[in-house]
Formats: sequence, structure tokens, C-alpha cells
Amino acid sequence: MPLIAPSLLSANFLNLEKDVEMINQSEADWFHVDVMDGRFVPNISFGFPVLNAVNKIAKKTLDVHLMIVEPEKYIAEFAKAGANYLSVHIEACNHLHRTIQMIHGEGMKAGVAINPHTPVHLLSDIIADIDLVCMMSVNPGFGGQKFIRHTLTKIAQLKTLINQCESKALIEIDGGVTLENAGEIIAAGADVLVAGNTVFSAANPTEMISKLKAI
Ligand code: DX5
Ligand code: ZN
Repeated sequence: MPLIAPSLLSANFLNLEKDVEMINQSEADWFHVDVMDGRFVPNISFGFPVLNAVNKIAKKTLDVHLMIVEPEKYIAEFAKAGANYLSVHIEACNHLHRTIQMIHGEGMKAGVAINPHTPVHLLSDIIADIDLVCMMSVNPGFGGQKFIRHTLTKIAQLKTLINQCESKALIEIDGGVTLENAGEIIAAGADVLVAGNTVFSAANPTEMISKLKAI
């Protein structure tokens, strides 16, 4: 069964508590939290005040996806804010290995996110040291975009690399996941599905989470 991680980016910010409680009560496994800085990606989402508030009532794993430059500056603060998984972009890190060590040093699981154009083989010398690969299946910055189908090939490549290196990393697919394409994404080897628009634009989000979980 895949792990389901609804993305709060598509939640109702005027009533975030209601959506967090909905996820608490649902079959979802994780909260996916997208932090954007307007520099690494052309959008700004939210930061520590919102994450701290969510952390007060969230009863599931907080999976924080940093789309920011110089993420190493904020690692301790994300740990304090309750992040369980912290993912940094490979494209944003000059010293990725050190950054992963810092994340582990703060007691969090470490993830590496890769953009659609970034080849899987760039992970070969870090894959054994990380807990999660957040594979972007859209260009990061916005919810509600269309799934890039080339990602399916990359999932299979990543699965092979993980097995070769005896890594324990989970494969998370982020962007454009729908009820229609979730089956083939899982068949390709994904462990975690992020879903923003698909969950929050559904007439019944709780039911949509159950449907994704049952795939
Ligand atoms: C995009 C974010 C995603 C986004 C996914 O930059 O990283 O997590 O919320 O949203 P959907 O599922 O709507 O594509
Ligand atoms: Zn994300």
C-alpha cells in the first residue's frame, strides 16, 4: 500500500485547522508541507509561523519539502518546528552530504528532492545516506500542474539505484498525482504519493484519500 501525503499547499488557509483535522481523521499517512522562498522557485508559500501552528494539532508525520536556496541555514529551526522528514533540493545544495549530516544531526529523516530535468544518477553517491527521494513530477512552485510522464522512467531508474546501493530510501512522487495515474506511478516503484489538488479539490477529500490509499 502506498503512503499518502496530502499537500497543505492546496488546503484552505482561511480555515487550516479544519483541513489539518480532516487529514488527522483520514487514512492519510503524512502531511506534506511545501516551503517556498520566491528564489529557488517562482512562488512564496509559508514558513515557520504556519508550520508551528500545524505542528500543534497535526497527529501524523510532518514531511517538509524545502524549495529554498541555502536550506542549511534553517535546519535546526525546522527540527524545532516539528519536521519529521526534511527534504532539500539537490539543485540548491553545494554541499549536499554535509546538509544531510546536519538534518540527521537534528534527529530528522533526510530527503533529497530532484527536479524533472535532474538525472537520477546524480543521486548515486548520496542514496545510501538518505531516507527519502522526493521526485518532482512537475516543475516545483505551484500545485495543480500536469504530471510529467517521463517521471515514470525515472522512478524505475531510481528503484534500480536504491536496490544496487542497498539504500533504505523511500520514493516519493510529488506533483500532478491523480486517481487516474496513481496506479502506474505505484507500479513503477513509488512508495509515497503527494497529492494536493486531487485531494483538496475533491467533493469529499477524506474519501479521495481513501481511494488513493486503496490503489
Ligand atoms: C509543488 C509542490 C507540490 C504540490 C503538489 O511545487 O512541491 O507538493 O503541492 O500539488 P499537486 O498535487 O496539486 O500537483
Ligand atoms: Zn512538495
